Amino acid sequence: KIGDYMKIGIFDSGVGGLTILKELIRKNKYHEYIYIGDTKNLPYGNSTIENLKKYSDTIINYFIKKRCDLVIIACGTISSNLSNYLKEKHKIKIIDIITPTIDYIVNKNYKNIGLIATNMTIQSNKIASSLTKHNINVITNPAPKLVDLIEKNLMNKKESIKILKEYLAPFQNKNLDLLILGCTQYPIIKKQISSLIKTQLYDMAYPIPSLIEDGAILKVQLYFTKLNNDILKNVINILNCKYKIEELKL
Ligand code: DGL
Repeated sequence: KIGDYMKIGIFDSGVGGLTILKELIRKNKYHEYIYIGDTKNLPYGNSTIENLKKYSDTIINYFIKKRCDLVIIACGTISSNLSNYLKEKHKIKIIDIITPTIDYIVNKNYKNIGLIATNMTIQSNKIASSLTKHNINVITNPAPKLVDLIEKNLMNKKESIKILKEYLAPFQNKNLDLLILGCTQYPIIKKQISSLIKTQLYDMAYPIPSLIEDGAILKVQLYFTKLNNDILKNVINILNCKYKIEELKL
């Protein structure tokens, strides 16, 4: 655990990481947060390792310049592909969101797990290989179009629900203990997902607050590398605390 009142840098490709920030605030982790949603480069899940390194290095260097005490990678794609690279490269404490998820599931005696995530997260094989080592059966399916649909507020469209249904098909009637929402945008559409599948859903935000001590004062600054109305609409729906929001050129 990391103590005292801190300045915490937290980032994702878009609004997805706000589901992590929201859970931290709900659990009274009152600190000064600087959030970066790299919407200019979204979606990360269909990008390349080379580009993802460039984006995350730039963001972490910004947090270091702003004298943050800690960085939270609020993105499944970066966490599953680059957490070792980033932790070794940067001289700042970094928390990824995949390691706590693996620890949580391994400690629960689960036998059958589903994982829906971005292309890059599924390709990294990070979650599946870690769970398989513990004799847990894992079914995976990538959902490459989902992040864009969520970020553009298109999940109320019939066509989007049809796509979601197809992504969920491999998990139906498989007797899963849990379906991991392996991308931080997915909890934003938890309602739509649970109307299509009966399996219990797992939100990667769940174990994160226990890694951080309670703080003193909450201050939230949100930056997006490209800001538009869809982002503002999503932010209003997700966060119910006071915050400042601005575009940031990185
Ligand atoms: N929110 C990130 C994740 O958890 C990135 C999604 C994306 O931009 O494709 O995977």
